[in-house]
Amino acid sequence: MVTGTAAPMLEMRGITKYFGGLCAVSAVDLDLMPGEALAIVGDNGAGKSTLIKVLTGVFEPDEGEIRLDGKPVSIASRRDARALGIEAVYQNLGLVDTLDAPGNVFLGHELKRPVLGIPFLDNRRMAREAARVLQENVGIELPNLREPALHLSGGQRQAVAIARAIYSTDLRVLVMDEPTAALGPEETRNTLALMQRLKAQGIALIVISHNLEHVFAVADRVMVMRGGRRVGLRTTANSTKQEVLGLIVAALDEPVAA
Ligand SMILES: Nc1ncnc2c1ncn2[C@@H]1O[C@H](COP(=O)(O)OP(=O)(O)OP(=O)(O)O)[C@@H](O)[C@H]1O
Ligand SMILES: [Mg+2]
Repeated sequence: MVTGTAAPMLEMRGITKYFGGLCAVSAVDLDLMPGEALAIVGDNGAGKSTLIKVLTGVFEPDEGEIRLDGKPVSIASRRDARALGIEAVYQNLGLVDTLDAPGNVFLGHELKRPVLGIPFLDNRRMAREAARVLQENVGIELPNLREPALHLSGGQRQAVAIARAIYSTDLRVLVMDEPTAALGPEETRNTLALMQRLKAQGIALIVISHNLEHVFAVADRVMVMRGGRRVGLRTTANSTKQEVLGLIVAALDEPVAA
């Protein structure tokens, strides 16, 4: 929850990113409180994905600073971001289709057990641990843990990706780029519930979405981007979909506050 006195866990200040002559993100500020869900909305090409890719180490900004717990940090790669507890999940990216859920959760940091001094993969323990994280932290039970990721639904894939993010780092900030975009109604409900669970575990969320219904269901605050700039910031409890839509399409304008 956001309180008036809490210090932000994450601060992005004056973030600017050019692609050649195009300014995709222009002097954007973003604050994130612990356990908060911040939505980023805006039309196609507004700069939402570019901004969060600066945070997750995909792009280096041309200008600006990122601070975590008040201290400046350098995020030059996804590995840097991960080491700071910042992870991104994309519904259709990042899973190895031929591996099952435990294989994906433990990809790159497999559990091993020594047999006569030689390390062997501890498949049984990985299956047990993956099932536990999926159930306890993510809140889903897969019908068949051994199914290759290829056969999982969009929502199940997303759940496995989140389980991996939780397991591999001391996860503090989870970035979700359009997490409900390709989901059916049931999986959308599950995903929104999952976001609430993650918040309750103190994980802060940054959620990009075009669906204002979903934004108002999960986000504490909503930031509006247009043409690479931040053009509005609202607390969802004190705003309406109508107002936010007005900001997205520029019917309503306001000076950008720091
Ligand atoms: N790798 C890239 N190279 C060149 N231009 C890019 C690159 N990525 C994004 N852009 C440009 O930067 C601008 C912002 O794109 P971005 O992907 O951040 O928008 P977005 O708000 O995420 O849009 P959408 O809602 O369509 O996903 C666009 O004009 C886009 O064409
Ligand atoms: Mg995008």
